[in-house]
Amino acid sequence: MIVHDKEFETFISHQSILAKTKELAQRINEDYQGKSPLFIGVLNGVFMFAADLMKEINLPSEISFIKLSSYEDLSSTGKVSELIGLKEDLAGKDIIIVEDIVDTGETMTHLLRKLAELNPSSIEIATLLLKVDVFKKDIDLKYVGFKIPEKFVIGYGLDYNGHGRNLKDIYQIKEQ
Ligand code: IMP
Repeated sequence: MIVHDKEFETFISHQSILAKTKELAQRINEDYQGKSPLFIGVLNGVFMFAADLMKEINLPSEISFIKLSSYEDLSSTGKVSELIGLKEDLAGKDIIIVEDIVDTGETMTHLLRKLAELNPSSIEIATLLLKVDVFKKDIDLKYVGFKIPEKFVIGYGLDYNGHGRNLKDIYQIKEQ
């Protein structure tokens, strides 16, 4: 499979993704009995995982989506990214962040800090993929689908320069 200039090979089948997603949803269903969590999906990559996960959730629950926009803030030293799209009041709510992939954990660290400022009663994380050798942050990732090696992946929502999000399976870059 060629996407742009790179070759990819099948890595995780759609069937395995769905089986793992069901497992994660079952754990969430048990852990949140009697509660009514608010799922927050991080766009764009999460759209497929969020859809399949939510179909297996049997709790009274809500879902909302956010985007992180990065821009250079000229008055400060580094990059700043803002949350866009969050309309809900998070105060007192049980939040489950839903991500497609955690790599270095930079994005998640930033997101957790931002969401914690909104005073939810709890925050947990569900990610389909974790690049386990790259991730060095001190964050508790409660629901992890697959721990994968440090190789670029596409498909099932994940892209390479905008392409590949539509693929049903997850593909890994093929080393030359
Ligand atoms: P982190 O901040 O390093 O954890 O990176 C997280 C973000 O980088 C994810 O939300 C993805 O958008 C992107 N990303 C990291 N690894 C991959 C990959 O292998 N394929 C596609 N996107 C990736």
